[in-house]
Amino acid sequence: MKLKQIVQATLAAASLLAIPLSGMAAEVEVLHYWTSGGEAKSAAELKKLMEAKGVSWKDFAVAGGGGENAMTALKARVIAGSAPTAAQIKGPSIQEWGKEGVLANIDVAANEGKWDASLPKVVSNVMKYQGHYVAVPVNVHRVNWLWVNPEVLKKAGATAPSNFEEFFVAADKIKKAGLIAVAHGGQPWQDATVFESVVLGVGGAAFYQKALVQLDPASLNSPTMIKAFDTLAKIKTYIDKDAAGRDWNLATAMVINGKAGMQFMGDWAKGEFSAAGKQPGKDYLCLPAPGTEKAFTFNIDSLAMFNVKGADQQKAQQTLANAVMSPEFQEVFNLNKGSIPARAGVSRAKFDSCALKSMDDMDATSKSGGLVPSFAHGMAIDSAKAGAIQDVVARFMNSTMTSQAAASALVKAAKAK
Ligand code: BGC
Repeated sequence: MKLKQIVQATLAAASLLAIPLSGMAAEVEVLHYWTSGGEAKSAAELKKLMEAKGVSWKDFAVAGGGGENAMTALKARVIAGSAPTAAQIKGPSIQEWGKEGVLANIDVAANEGKWDASLPKVVSNVMKYQGHYVAVPVNVHRVNWLWVNPEVLKKAGATAPSNFEEFFVAADKIKKAGLIAVAHGGQPWQDATVFESVVLGVGGAAFYQKALVQLDPASLNSPTMIKAFDTLAKIKTYIDKDAAGRDWNLATAMVINGKAGMQFMGDWAKGEFSAAGKQPGKDYLCLPAPGTEKAFTFNIDSLAMFNVKGADQQKAQQTLANAVMSPEFQEVFNLNKGSIPARAGVSRAKFDSCALKSMDDMDATSKSGGLVPSFAHGMAIDSAKAGAIQDVVARFMNSTMTSQAAASALVKAAKAK
């Protein structure tokens, strides 16, 4: 067929189907890093919902836990002037992108949907740049969890730990029984995830806040921080020799299939247990990380909206924002993801005991002062400082660096720009 014929045929087909030729059907392109079993199931729910609303979904998934690879891909696209409709960005990074002038104001959707009234302030503050909504929250993840296989405990004659003393007793027994006590993947963000739970467990929420949120030098280089590194060094001895580079979901799989006993990880790990058909309380336990029962490290996933051209694409973006905030989406997404809804007004009926505990604990800690932002998951400090602190922790995990040297290195890292 010649070009003229192709154009004519396309025009005829379009008029039959009433497809607007300008932008074809509306489309959203969404950058995310939800690629593990549980994560992919969750993302698929958003795709389904958008397609049901007549908006096609262009998946821009970049594998890599914690999202580092995704952020690199995003930067390249924004620099090239072709930002996606939305990207999974969170915490202070939203402000960093806001300053670049590339985020879209979605106040219209927010006002229509009365978001201010249905989001806790701790959530809505993060979604706004200079007082305007530029991002929409999908969930709240709790990071300070310990995932435990009760069969492994039983085999080892160990009991579920609630503090570090009990944790090391259990870990010793599991190791003696010939199993791996701590499932871990040696990647910097996973090291940081364990580290922040240890800081919280050893120092408590007020110390965590001073050290990892306010970056107070005296707290970063303190006997409490040294004790936290000592504890981390001890945890290292219960990790198997093949951990280097292992993805977090493969470490979770080791707990699921009984090769390992415990894993420090946020509740996206629960998404893996659920996807494997496992039941909390029976097949696995979700325990607050040792010593952190009264605290809650929050990690809010959100989709930041980028400036898009054309009325069709802007409308599709609004549809996406509204869909993400709908109670139906927040329910189904979080049932799969392991997290809890970010907004009020979602029924608790279908959520399991781990999610209910998370909801209740978030509520209680928001009153007690135990609710703190996750440093390891980009909620506490800007990305340059978080990256530099993460590097110190990774160096500590992969060398014979002393706890004292690591604590004093944190002070310098906290000044990174
Ligand atoms: C994100 C989660 C994700 C996890 C593993 C976290 O930083 O908030 O949504 O499941 O990383 O990639």
